[in-house]
Amino acid sequence: MPTISEGPPATISLRLAHDAYTVLVDSDILSRAAQLTQAWTELSAKAAALVTDSNVAPLYAEGVRTSLESAGFRVTTIIVPAGESSKSMAQVASICGQMLRAGLDRKSVLFALGGGVVGDLAGFAAAIFQRGIPCIQIPTTIVSQVDSSVGGKTGVNTAEGKNLLGAFHQPRLVLADVNTLATLPDREFNEGFAEIIKHAAIRDASLLDLAEDRASIRSHLVELIARNVAIKATIVEEDERETSGTRALLNFGHTLGHGIEAAGGYGRFLHGEAISLGLVAAVHLSVEKAGLSAEEANRIIQSLKIWDLPTILPDDVSDEDILAAMERDKKFDAGQIRFVLIRSLGDAFVSDAINRDDLARTLIGLRE
Ligand SMILES: NC(=O)c1ccc[n+]([C@@H]2O[C@H](COP(=O)([O-])OP(=O)(O)OC[C@H]3O[C@@H](n4cnc5c(N)ncnc54)[C@H](O)[C@@H]3O)[C@@H](O)[C@H]2O)c1
Ligand SMILES: [Zn+2]
Repeated sequence: MPTISEGPPATISLRLAHDAYTVLVDSDILSRAAQLTQAWTELSAKAAALVTDSNVAPLYAEGVRTSLESAGFRVTTIIVPAGESSKSMAQVASICGQMLRAGLDRKSVLFALGGGVVGDLAGFAAAIFQRGIPCIQIPTTIVSQVDSSVGGKTGVNTAEGKNLLGAFHQPRLVLADVNTLATLPDREFNEGFAEIIKHAAIRDASLLDLAEDRASIRSHLVELIARNVAIKATIVEEDERETSGTRALLNFGHTLGHGIEAAGGYGRFLHGEAISLGLVAAVHLSVEKAGLSAEEANRIIQSLKIWDLPTILPDDVSDEDILAAMERDKKFDAGQIRFVLIRSLGDAFVSDAINRDDLARTLIGLRE
C-alpha cells in the first residue's frame, strides 16, 4: 500500500520495484515547484526543460519558471500546440531537438506542465532523452491529476492507433495543484469525473459520496484528488507493469468506451464522455453477469448524470462502427474478450464470460 498522509500537502508515496516517488496534492503548488522538488527528490540538476502546451503556457508557465529560476535552475521552456495531435513522434523529436540545442544533457531534468497530452508526450521525451532523464509531472487537468501523471505510462500515438509507442518512465515527483483546475473549461472538468466514478466503482464505494456532491466539490478538491491518486497508486504498486491483471481493472468502462470514442471519430466525444457510456454498458453487463444489484448500478449511472456525462448512446453512432473499432484495436481473441465487471461497488474482476454478442446486446440497451 502507498504511504498516505492527509497533509497539507496531501502526500501519497509509491514504492515500486526500481522507483519510489511521492505525489503531492495541494492548492498553490506551482509557485513552490522548485522548493518542493528540492525537498522531495535527491535531484542535483540545475538545468531544466519546462514542457507545456499552448493553452497552459499563458496561464501557468511563468509561475513555474519563476519558482525554478529563483532556486537557481536554468530553464528552457518548450511549448507544443494544445491537443491530442501533439502526442506524436514528430513532437518528441522536436522537444528533444530543442533540448539538445539549448545545451541540456543527461544531468538535466524535465518538468511536464499540463494535461495528459503533455504528461504522456514530455514523459516519453524524458524517457529517451540521452537514454533517460528524470521527469517531474505537474498535471493541470482532473484526468492527469487522478490518472495519467501517476503510474509511469508515457507515449505517443501513430497513424495506426493511440498510445502505440511508449515507455514506462516513472516520474520522480508529481505536483498536483488543484488551483489549476479553476481554469479548466467545464466540459474538461466534468469529463474527469468519469475516471473518478470508475475509481469508486472498482475500489472505493465511499468515494462516490464525495464525487456526487457537485454543489460543494470545489471546496473539497484536495481530498478528491488525493483519494483518487491513492487508488491509482495502490493499483500501480500491486501491478506496476500490468502483468498480474490488477492494473487491468483500471480498464473498467474502457473496453467499449474506447470503441465508442473511436466510432465517434475522436472529435465527437471527449475521452471521459466516451468512458461514461462505456461505464454504463459495463454496469449493465455487471448486473447481468456478475450479480451487481440494480440499486448500485443505478447509483453509478446517476452519478455520471450529475456531471452531465452522457449515459445514452446517440443513434448515429452505429454498433457496427463501435464493434469494428474494437476489432481493429484487437480487443477480441477468437470472439472472446477480457472484460472488467464489478460484483458490487468497489469489487472488480476481469471476466472471460463476455463475448461479442453480449456487447452487441448491451449496445442496444445503451440507446434507451
Ligand atoms: N499515461 C496514462 O496512464 C494515461 C491515463 C489516462 C489518459 N492518458 C492520456 O491523457 C490524455 C488526455 O489528458 P487530458 O484529458 O488531461 O487532456 P489534455 O492534456 O488534452 O487537456 C485537455 C485540454 O485542457 C487544456 N488544459 C490543461 N490544463 C488546463 C488548465 N488548468 N486550465 C485550462 N486549460 C487547461 C489543454 O490545453 C487541453 O486543451 C490522452 O492523450 C490520454 O491518452 C494517459
Ligand atoms: Zn480513461
